[in-house]
Amino acid sequence: MAGTYQKKILITGGAGFIGSHVVRRFVQEYPNYLIYNLDKLTYAGNLENLKDIETSPSYRFEKGDICDSDLVSELFHQMQFDGVIHLAAESHVDRSIENPLEFIQTNIIGTVSLLNAARENWKGKESGKLFYHISTDEVYGSLGDTGLFTETTPYDPRSPYSASKASSDHFVRAYENTYGIPAIISNCSNNYGPNHVPEKLIPLFINNIKNNQSLPVYGDGKYTRDWLYVIDHAMAIDLIFHKGKPGGTYNIGGFNEWKNIDLIQLLCKIMDEKLGREKGTSEKLITYITDRPGHDRRYAIDSTKISQELGWKPSVNFEEGLEKTVDWYLANEEWLQHVTSGNYQKYYDKMYLHRS
Ligand code: NAD
Ligand code: DAU
Repeated sequence: MAGTYQKKILITGGAGFIGSHVVRRFVQEYPNYLIYNLDKLTYAGNLENLKDIETSPSYRFEKGDICDSDLVSELFHQMQFDGVIHLAAESHVDRSIENPLEFIQTNIIGTVSLLNAARENWKGKESGKLFYHISTDEVYGSLGDTGLFTETTPYDPRSPYSASKASSDHFVRAYENTYGIPAIISNCSNNYGPNHVPEKLIPLFINNIKNNQSLPVYGDGKYTRDWLYVIDHAMAIDLIFHKGKPGGTYNIGGFNEWKNIDLIQLLCKIMDEKLGREKGTSEKLITYITDRPGHDRRYAIDSTKISQELGWKPSVNFEEGLEKTVDWYLANEEWLQHVTSGNYQKYYDKMYLHRS
């Protein structure tokens, strides 16, 4: 297999929400690359996300755990990857509050396992290789009413999830500095769009509105997030992978801040229209519940660097993106049913039934 492709790229977590959009983009845009998707298929990994490209000749899937260092090392040896785009992670803050150890395992140990394999395999031939680590704006902590996270904002993670992501970012930089592994990190704001598991705010609320279930708003609902359409994130990842400077950090965000309650009201309005319900119907489902412990008040990204250096800008405005997202969920009933069957109900009851 060596030598028949222009590049061989390992994408981890490619069956997840963002990963599946990245895999699709790379398979479609770069038919001369071999795209190798390594994913453990946790509750968040779903091969249905990739049905449309799964038979492409340049695509391979392997079910496996990034923490399995023998497997990862063997894979690097066999495939001689030119680059890694590392998305595999435990990604939900609420789950990290319930069970921090799983986050330490996958997000930290798993990242180090990949870095070790890259270090062994690329030793002496690092030039042209790239370890691209996908991170989050949450590593920067929580903002007050003003200001934006830039690439030089000091790290200040405040949840088990963000602490594990911050730690993995530090390991990437440490391996770059100590062993000379060419690396880039990007830190993105909240993504939304198709294929998002309905445990995160937007898909959870779409699913609940559809089923006439209450909409559990944490605390006073005035927490602020900066939302980006997932396809615009995948486009940024493509640009950074190809044109970003090794050693660099890129913040990705849409200058699109929304207080949760304002976003929820907009979503309710769109859902009423799409479902043909009387105006104001969905808003009646809003229920304020006990806050998330340690809830970060506000995130907002300054993405000036990526737009000036690489010419990236989001292609979709929020209202348009949210409407497309709602349309996707309403058109993909079967996907939603599969994702919300099985253990989903147990998770939902555990997280929400005792909170008022
Ligand atoms: P996700 O939870 O939807 O998907 C994670 C994927 O990783 C799943 O396919 C899962 O099966 C896989 N995975 C988990 N543990 C694994 C392991 N040990 N070995 C192999 N595969 C494993 O996550 P997402 O929302 O798509 O996020 C992807 C990445 O982007 C994460 O690193 C996350 O921290 C980062 N990120 C997410 C957002 C967001 O808003 N969702 C924003 C910024 C950054
Ligand atoms: O900022 C990037 C991060 O965005 C990513 O790194 C994470 O992987 C991703 O999960 C996301 O984290 P958040 O905690 O911001 O996303 P979530 O959708 O869980 O919550 C968004 C906001 O909505 C937050 O203020 C909490 C609130 N919320 C969430 C849920 C699930 C509610 O009020 N009710 C809910 O039921």
